[in-house]
Amino acid sequence: IEKNFQPRPLLGKKVIVTAGGTKEAIDPVRFIGNRSSGKMGLAMAKVARDLGADVTLITTVDTDLGGLNVVKVQTATELMAQIQSAFPKSDVLVMAAAVADFKPINVADQKIKKNDDEDIFTIKLTKNPDILKTVASTKTNQFVVGFAAETQHLLENAEKKLANKNADVILANNVAQNGAGFNVDTNRITLLQKNQQPETWPLMSKVDVARKFWDFYLHR
Ligand code: CTP
Ligand code: CA
Repeated sequence: IEKNFQPRPLLGKKVIVTAGGTKEAIDPVRFIGNRSSGKMGLAMAKVARDLGADVTLITTVDTDLGGLNVVKVQTATELMAQIQSAFPKSDVLVMAAAVADFKPINVADQKIKKNDDEDIFTIKLTKNPDILKTVASTKTNQFVVGFAAETQHLLENAEKKLANKNADVILANNVAQNGAGFNVDTNRITLLQKNQQPETWPLMSKVDVARKFWDFYLHR
């Protein structure tokens, strides 16, 4: 038996993983962002690569992961364009990115100066497209995975996302809970699928969540 034998069950599969929070420009030096670290998406990409997949990682955060195709983006608009170009030829989309729901309507060309007479500054925002919903509606055979970041009513909110985003699976996590969600190395996931009982996984490292997810994908 070969030493260091590694099974490659995802060999030949084209996987897109998105990671990190989008940054929506206000002016040349400022943006609106969120607390996503990108760790869950990076773990999904790393494990898929280790299992032999051909991975395209579209990310707002830097990574030194090798052996995959890394595409850096900042805004939801850029993220959507990159996903749309890779999606038709892909087998799986894992939408772990924390997409800003809104972006500034206008991006100032120059740095915005504060004004001595105004104590209140208002930024008008406009909705970003729902990337997952838009892309998944063009699905042919792709398996589409969304996340649901919730701080309350986890199951109820995640069920709604499963129903209206055309996703095959939603991985729901309570981002207000200790040891789960943003900027930590662990996560507690509830997996939702159509016509199936939700499945709650114990608190585990994000890499273990990724291993468990790809194992689920391979045996579903
Ligand atoms: N998502 C997306 N495009 C958006 C917003 C979210 O593709 N404009 C994706 C996220 O990447 C995630 C899923 O949709 O996979 C759920 O994101 P979440 O923020 O939890 O849900 P929303 O639908 O944005 O609803 P809300 O923030 O109001 O809970
Ligand atoms: Ca959102």
